[in-house]
Amino acid sequence: RLPDASALVVFGATGDLARKKLIPAVYDLANRGLLPPGFVLTGFARREWSDEEFAQFARESAEKGARTPFREEVWARLAGSVRFVQGSFDDDAAFDRLAGLLDELDKSHGIGGNAAFYLSIPPSAFPVVLKQMQRTGLANATDTPGWRRVVIEKPFGHDLASAHELNALVDDVFTPSGVYRIDHYLGKETVQNLFALRFANTLFEPIWNSQFVDSVQITMAEDVGIGTRAGFYDETGAARDVLQNHLLQLLALTAMEEPVSFGPETIRTEKLKVLRAVSLPTDLDRYAVRGQYEQGWLAGARVAGYLDEESIPADSHTETFAAVRFGIETRRWAGVPFYLRTGKRLPRRVTEISIVFKKAPHLPFDKTDTAELGNNQLVIRVQPDEGVTLKFGSKVPGSAMEVRDVAMDFLFGEAFTEALPEAYERLILDVLLGDATLFPNNAEVEESWRIIDPLEEFWARTTPHRYRAGSWGPAAADEMLAADGRRWRRP
Ligand code: BG6
Repeated sequence: RLPDASALVVFGATGDLARKKLIPAVYDLANRGLLPPGFVLTGFARREWSDEEFAQFARESAEKGARTPFREEVWARLAGSVRFVQGSFDDDAAFDRLAGLLDELDKSHGIGGNAAFYLSIPPSAFPVVLKQMQRTGLANATDTPGWRRVVIEKPFGHDLASAHELNALVDDVFTPSGVYRIDHYLGKETVQNLFALRFANTLFEPIWNSQFVDSVQITMAEDVGIGTRAGFYDETGAARDVLQNHLLQLLALTAMEEPVSFGPETIRTEKLKVLRAVSLPTDLDRYAVRGQYEQGWLAGARVAGYLDEESIPADSHTETFAAVRFGIETRRWAGVPFYLRTGKRLPRRVTEISIVFKKAPHLPFDKTDTAELGNNQLVIRVQPDEGVTLKFGSKVPGSAMEVRDVAMDFLFGEAFTEALPEAYERLILDVLLGDATLFPNNAEVEESWRIIDPLEEFWARTTPHRYRAGSWGPAAADEMLAADGRRWRRP
């Protein structure tokens, strides 16, 4: 099914996200034939650009960032439907021009009033842009039958109170069913595969509970530092940047009950139930560790410490690493720790969910023969090397009955010829199709802040531990698991 003819309006169209992800995703959709003939890409930004100049920028972004090969004929079709509106967010006339443009596009492209507005802008600019859209009637085009949708990039607020305020504002300006909060992790194929793995097979679900599962580890490691986002990052920190959203969403998908069907309401309901049941450890000193990287070595190159990065205050207490032990107070998960960790300047980029099973209750072997036998583990590799690994014990060939860990691997790249689409491609298409299944709703967002707020309050009274760039984080993170008789998996 193709989306309706429509305009995708990108606020912040000349920014990093638009250049690296959004525009390439639009090109990929066009290349795969998934955009309707009446599709129009509209950029809104401050630069004094013409339609042609923005089209040139979009072309370069697509050439550089698209997953699918760049083809002139695909571009030529898209290029005719690229528009640009110049203006700043407090410029009433610019928003009036945008409203006028949408009317024109009705006639030229038959968009029938359909428009999705992508807020790829700093959160501080959300209120003014939303109010402009309210003032100009862009948010709810009452005189046309078309739909109006808004896409909001995280962070959705800074804490529970500000998220609540933002949600109230957005829901006041747009119809709540037209609001799409993007958590791009939900657009990743491997994350969606959690549904298939758990609910399309008989094998895993019977053992997916506290009777068989010892613990769960969710790791999102990045080798990159903070790039050019010093200002944003120093105000945000790792917990607000990715723990509050990506990692808690992964936790929810791992722990949720089977939804009644595969639809937005049913899935959001099940995720919300998990988030409501998430508990924090009482001993935060031990089980909520944050860190900040110092200079070190990565891939053979010397990299600066966080405090030496450009525009970072020398006394910053912002964390670039966070590791926390959560509990889930339900019958299924009682007593099973969920260890979540994330960090910048770790040895490599890897995101994975590891389900660690309990040891066999009894081993009829000599102790020495099972010295190298660990726990069974199911590792869902979100990225890179997308796939699933099952670790279990096997006999070592030879005359002794020695048992050692081996791995069984499934790799998307080997099992399927289809290329993995980029997360943004899937999510933009869903917005145009009006399918909100993969978008967290405001109840989930607020529930996630309910979990994070006490952590932030606790951390505000502490100094982050230091860790060397290129290491797996501060020693305190290892000690946290050691205290429970466990170890982090080395991905
Ligand atoms: C973003 C964070 O949401 O996710 C970044 O703001 C992070 O700090 C990025 O680098 C990681 O995304 P991915 O898809 O590369 O894992």
